[in-house]
Amino acid sequence: MSDHGKLRSYSTSSSVQATLGQWRNLIRLHRQGLTSRVAAVVAELRGIEADVQDHAGAKVEDCRVLDIGPGQHLMQMSYFAARGNHVIGVDRDVIVQGFDPAGYWHMARSNGLGRVAKTAGRKSLGIDRSYRRELERLLGLREPIPRLTVHQRNAWDTRLQAGSFDFVYSLRAFMHIHEPAAAIEEAARVLAPGGVAFIDLMPYTGPNGSLDIRMLGGRHDELAPWAHLRPQHRHLVRESAHLNRLSASEWQTLLTRGMPGCTIRPTKPSVDRLQPLAEELHGQGELLDFSVDDLVTTNLHVFWRKPIARACTALMRSTLAVLISVANACDSLAEWVNFSLSPLALG
Ligand SMILES: C[S@@+](CC[C@H](N)C(=O)[O-])C[C@H]1O[C@@H](n2cnc3c(N)ncnc32)[C@H](O)[C@@H]1O
Repeated sequence: MSDHGKLRSYSTSSSVQATLGQWRNLIRLHRQGLTSRVAAVVAELRGIEADVQDHAGAKVEDCRVLDIGPGQHLMQMSYFAARGNHVIGVDRDVIVQGFDPAGYWHMARSNGLGRVAKTAGRKSLGIDRSYRRELERLLGLREPIPRLTVHQRNAWDTRLQAGSFDFVYSLRAFMHIHEPAAAIEEAARVLAPGGVAFIDLMPYTGPNGSLDIRMLGGRHDELAPWAHLRPQHRHLVRESAHLNRLSASEWQTLLTRGMPGCTIRPTKPSVDRLQPLAEELHGQGELLDFSVDDLVTTNLHVFWRKPIARACTALMRSTLAVLISVANACDSLAEWVNFSLSPLALG
């Protein structure tokens, strides 16, 4: 874990070949069904809303909402803003919206020219605009989604007021954060008592934990399974971003410490294919540092409702202490009265 305090772009691919590869991928993905991609984002967010409602018994409407690591598209923030919430984001990268030369200048200085090239290219191809329009169409909005507020800050140092959000969420960002334990504590700190946090992250030990674009794109035949965890294959892996490389079990430890009582749901979409593979590799003496469960877990979904309690419990405890002292005092008084009036005392 290095360069903690700095706000550097999380993207690592600097070679021309890797950048061109990412571009080709981007344009292909864009052409292949924008509608279905936006629909998938909306379906994911509706699922999260339903889960939050189960946890908190309340809808994410008219709430103060924080997105940790919203990324360049701001799709999720736009969705929650369109649903009548007051949404802000914190991202380590500069997020430019609309025509903003000063923003690009700031981006070049903070996150490098590679980031500027990617963002400007995407915007000049109209990719971001078409995503936003499709979202507006799908949600039936009459007005365009307004500009959103995104602070360029680290997740572990948001400088936001304690207890100032009803819903804090983060999608696929925590595995990039250099100080994960501090970021979990920070998310818990800014959440209001009774508020809900939701985190979706990809542990490093999962099949796609390296975030190699080939694996993310389902091209499993191009790399050995868990190549990033196996010394003889590791050199072939191209991690597409900075990763903190925490295993699923390490995440569980950190999360339960920072958000006591949270619910952690591992998702294992390819368990039928991966479990026999992991067991076979274990049998051959490989990957023994990782449990089969960790190896087949692709994502962790974390829900936490911040207890309303702490301040209340302290107050209740002191009230109870006062009541007990009063009761004890009454008891002593009664005993004294009894004794004073007893035949023994009266002689
Ligand atoms: C893979 S993108 C996810 C974007 C979006 N949440 C999504 O699911 O589409 C990860 C985001 O996390 C941000 N990020 C990485 N490290 C961060 C940090 N320390 N603090 C805040 N954001 C960070 C990156 O800049 C990037 O925008």
